[in-house]
Amino acid sequence: MKIFIDTANIEEIKRANELGILDGVTTNPTLLSKEGKDPIEQLKEICRIVRGPVTAEVLSTKAEEMVEEARKYAKLASNIVIKVPMCEEGLKAVKRLSKEGIKTNMTLIFSVNQGILAAKAGATYVSPFIGRLDDVGHEGMQIARELVQIFKTYGFKAQVIVASIRHPLHVIEAAKTGAPVATIPFEVIEKMIRHPLTDIGIKRFLADWEKLTKQR
Ligand code: E4P
Repeated sequence: MKIFIDTANIEEIKRANELGILDGVTTNPTLLSKEGKDPIEQLKEICRIVRGPVTAEVLSTKAEEMVEEARKYAKLASNIVIKVPMCEEGLKAVKRLSKEGIKTNMTLIFSVNQGILAAKAGATYVSPFIGRLDDVGHEGMQIARELVQIFKTYGFKAQVIVASIRHPLHVIEAAKTGAPVATIPFEVIEKMIRHPLTDIGIKRFLADWEKLTKQR
């Protein structure tokens, strides 16, 4: 399973990249707005740090304008992937962009039906939002599970990105669905690294080593 980081924060992206586990980045208007910087410059910098896919989301609501916006983003770097929201206009835009060879990530997927349409339109990636579904009492992961199965059955090229991940258990569940990608916030990556028994183990090894060096 590929790991993307779900952030627009340069520090977090650099730290995750240095861990050697990072395959890509997903941003969205909320994440870029949190940084309070020029979004274009921010995206360019992210693309310089990470070689894998970096998503930039269009804000237009009409297909023609979405395509125009996407073409501009696509010129920023060769690894840019265009995030397009799920809606009628979004589907039309994804179709056109896929014909132009511009990679897309259809976002805000909350049902299996939406995911099937995104794949049919030619999206490179399809992002079911697991955490937001859990928040309203639906089992979000079930959408990812079914989409992975359906894409496999029909040989759809679209790859499922398990998105809106909230905690480490979501990551394990995402991996078990067979989804090719999970996009994970930095604080969840940090939680995946740590285990209290590992901390105790490191301390104990160091203390025992110190004892040995004092004895000799
Ligand atoms: C995915 O690409 C989105 O940026 C993201 O996962 C949304 O997550 P949220 O529900 O935590 O905002």
